Parts: sequence; C-alpha cells; structure tokens
Amino acid sequence: MMEKPFTIGMLTSGGDAPGMNAAIRAVVRTGIANNCRVIGVSNGFDGLINGEFKEMGPRDVGGILQRGGTILQTRRSKTFIDPRGQRDAIRRMNEAGMDALVVIGGDGSLNGANALHTQGIKVIGIPASIDNDIWGTNIAIGVDTAMNTIMDAVDKLRDTASSHGRAFIVETMGRNSGYLAVMTGIVCGAEIVLIPEVEASLEEVAEAVEDAYRRGKTHAIIIVAEGFNLRTTELAHHLDEMDLGFKTRVTILGHIQRGGSPTAYDRLLASRMGVKAVEALLAGTSGVMTGLKGRGIDYIPLADVIANKRRTNLEYHHMARVLAR
Ligand code: F6P
Repeated sequence: MMEKPFTIGMLTSGGDAPGMNAAIRAVVRTGIANNCRVIGVSNGFDGLINGEFKEMGPRDVGGILQRGGTILQTRRSKTFIDPRGQRDAIRRMNEAGMDALVVIGGDGSLNGANALHTQGIKVIGIPASIDNDIWGTNIAIGVDTAMNTIMDAVDKLRDTASSHGRAFIVETMGRNSGYLAVMTGIVCGAEIVLIPEVEASLEEVAEAVEDAYRRGKTHAIIIVAEGFNLRTTELAHHLDEMDLGFKTRVTILGHIQRGGSPTAYDRLLASRMGVKAVEALLAGTSGVMTGLKGRGIDYIPLADVIANKRRTNLEYHHMARVLAR
C-alpha cells in the first residue's frame, strides 16, 4: 500500500501584508518538490474551523508572486480564540488528513498558531504584518512594501506642500507601534514624527513647524502614527489656530499601506521564509516562527514570540529629528 504523503495545511490570517502570496507560492512549491501535499485553507482560522480546504498544485500559485493581498483570503477570527473553536479546527484538520499547518500572519495569528502547537499540532509561523511589531524577526513580510508606499505618498504630498507653503500631517498605520512612522520619517525627511512610544506636547509640534518656517523651508511634514494619542484632525485644528507660518492639511494614508505589489525585498523575504517553513516541518520541527536574524532565517519558538513585543528603536526617532533640521 502506498504511504500517505505528508500533508501541510496553510492559511493567512489577520491584516493582509504584501508578500503573503510570495510566501504561499514558496510553501506550495517547496512542499510539492518534497513529495508533500499542500492544502490551502481559505479565510484564516475561520476557514480551518469550517473546513474551507483546497489542495494546491504548482500552477495554482502561478502569477501571484507580484500580487499584493492573499489569494487564500484572510480574517480576524473571534471563534478561534475560544478553545471550542480550536477543538473544532483540530477535528477538521484530522478529517482532512492534515499533518501540519503553516500560519502566515501577525502577532494575533501567531498566538493562534501557538495555541494549536500546545495541543499537539505541528505548526510553523511565518511573520507577516506591515506594523513590524512581531518579536523575534528583524523585519516581517510586508513592512518594506508599506514603507515604500508611504514614502511615495509623502514625496507627492511634499510637492504640493512646497507649492502652497503648507504643513502636512500624514497619518500612518502601525496600531500601537511607531515603527512605520519613525522609519518613513527618516526616509521622507519629516520635520517631526509622533509615535505612541514617545510623548509629545502640542507646543513641541508647534515649535517644530514654526522652526521649519523660520529656517526658510517651504513646507513641513509631520508624520503621525495612528496610535499617537492626539487625532490628526484635532492636531491640525490646534496648529492652524496658533498661526505658525504654514497652513495645515491632513492626509490619512489608511489601507493603501496594506496593498500593492510587494517590493523585491518582500518577495525575497517571503520566498525564503516559505521555503524554511517547509524545511522545518520536514525536519520534524514544530512550534516555531521563521525569523530574520542577521543574514539568515532562524527558527524562533512561538512561545517566545508571543510573550514579547518588538519595540521600536527610539534611537531612530531621535535620528529623524536631527536629520530634519
Ligand atoms: O495590523 C495591520 C493593520 O493595518 C494596523 O496597522 C491597523 O491598525 C489595522 O491593521 C487595521 O485593521 P483593519 O484592516 O481591520 O481596519
């Protein structure tokens, strides 16, 4: 009798991130090259609970390397947080003959992956989230593309800001992390970057804007992370009342930061992590996440990943300020 091939399930979960498709492609093709079956699970952990499964072949992942989003669709599942949801998911996996699961997503998704691992399921996590708040990897899939999207937007905003002599407040995503705001603050030459990790008063912001005016700049760019404690529109209102030389406009970049074709960096990172995820499973490893450390991809215990939070390096916040003068 023919032995049943090792069967790998795979899902994407949480907020989508550009490069998820490249990771999906890498898992499918590496799995098949190693005589495994790969089953795509649609709609994240909800799809695992509902048995939304489809076996994937190499041609099913053709032409997706350059596409943003995720062909598997993604969800933020409330049902899976409940242990009964996890029990139902495990039952579905067993019914489908799934031997292991690859979870591609952010910290909430990796939490879900670890919950399955602790119940005896073979699981590997792949970090994907534009927020770059996942502990255990220098960078997650999607971050580089999101930064490039923000940079492109701010470059365009600076053109119109300069033409009109205006200050632009640009809100970036990142949930509770200021990473995207700080790093794009550096690459876009923002006058000031406001992040949840560092308190800043209205007076400090006003001083930065007025200082730019005094120095003869034709514009001022204020990058505000969405988690900062003052809303962008409120901030604009206060700054305009203070008459700082520039009139203020607000742009909330929103979900465009999550879309678009992944950069070369993200395609490469996702491809490498997808390959390493399958290699880990073939070597009998479970309960780890692929993480970029130095030049290589390491395996980081999921328990450590979810117990920690990646902190934004505040040296870069300081650097953004110095370089803007
Ligand atoms: O985690 C990714 C992220 O884009 C955050 O930056 C943001 O706070 C959140 O997801 C937005 O979530 P939703 O897509 O549910 O609006």
